[in-house]
Amino acid sequence: MSGPHPAASATVHDLIAEAHARFRRARLAFGHGTTNAWDEAVYLVLHALKLPPDRLTPFLARKVTVAERERALHLIGERIRRRVPAAYLTREAWLGDARFYVDERVIVPRSYLAELLHARLAPWIAQPARIKQALDLCTGSGCLAVVLARMFPAARVDAVDISPAALAVARRNVAAYRLQRRVRLLQSDLFSALRGERYDLIIANPPYVSAAVMRKLPPEYRHEPSLALAGGADGFDAVRIILREAAQRLTGGGLLVVEVGHNRKRLEARFPHLPFVWPQTSGGDDCVFMLERRDLTGAARAAAVPPQRARRAGAASRRR
Ligand SMILES: C[S@@+](CC[C@H](N)C(=O)[O-])C[C@H]1O[C@@H](n2cnc3c(N)ncnc32)[C@H](O)[C@@H]1O
Repeated sequence: MSGPHPAASATVHDLIAEAHARFRRARLAFGHGTTNAWDEAVYLVLHALKLPPDRLTPFLARKVTVAERERALHLIGERIRRRVPAAYLTREAWLGDARFYVDERVIVPRSYLAELLHARLAPWIAQPARIKQALDLCTGSGCLAVVLARMFPAARVDAVDISPAALAVARRNVAAYRLQRRVRLLQSDLFSALRGERYDLIIANPPYVSAAVMRKLPPEYRHEPSLALAGGADGFDAVRIILREAAQRLTGGGLLVVEVGHNRKRLEARFPHLPFVWPQTSGGDDCVFMLERRDLTGAARAAAVPPQRARRAGAASRRR
């Protein structure tokens, strides 16, 4: 006999239902591209069967071959056994329609900033063609630098990361999108290796997880580089430096856009003088802030309130 053999009556739907049940039983954690056991099962089964990731319905009743079933069961088993994000098994992650290569050298792309970039930061940026110089701080896999370059075709993009290993992954993604001429990758501790450059737009998805939250991370998140997550005691080590130094790096009407997780209240309490704008994303209106250069000028404005006072201010604002 030759060719693949259908497994007795198993369909794509059967396989997904089996994966779903096993994922639920195993109490996996999600958040690396999907948010629940069903979507994760769909993603992994479609990937194993080499089917398009965004078209499930036409394939639900399709019979799977023995080889396909084995491939899918292997991925499902590894996801459970190693508690590893699916993206590290499939070596890919998606931001909208853009696919990126990923491995354990970088965090799995999932930034809400990508949504704002896909909308060309409208209405905050009225004329995308005027963005000529942009900076992606903490670039990781380079995913946001790539989306930025695609959505702002007039921009030259500097993309920096402190990790040479992450930059190797970013290099691969930048090359895959043939953006080597417009995206420059640099090893830098935040702004430190950048000399004199000024940017119309600075974006950053820095590490922002506090020490307390780091201690409680589910196993899936422990596969990611801790350098990409850990933001110091209160999570704001990198954010503080960005707020302090961004004004000197922005052009006159320049814009700073930073992701900080769901930490709006804590950040506002820490920097009560800064007029943060919190655009709506699918994660809510507490994850990404924007500031214009003029909002950041004047040392007093960016001066942080000491953590104790900030905690009291946060408690007061929650009571209001
Ligand atoms: C949350 S990840 C973001 C990666 C990517 N931009 C994304 O959205 O998927 C943070 C990245 O910041 C890098 N990083 C940490 N500390 C840094 C620093 N002081 N300077 C530059 N990059 C840093 C880490 O290596 C990691 O790649």
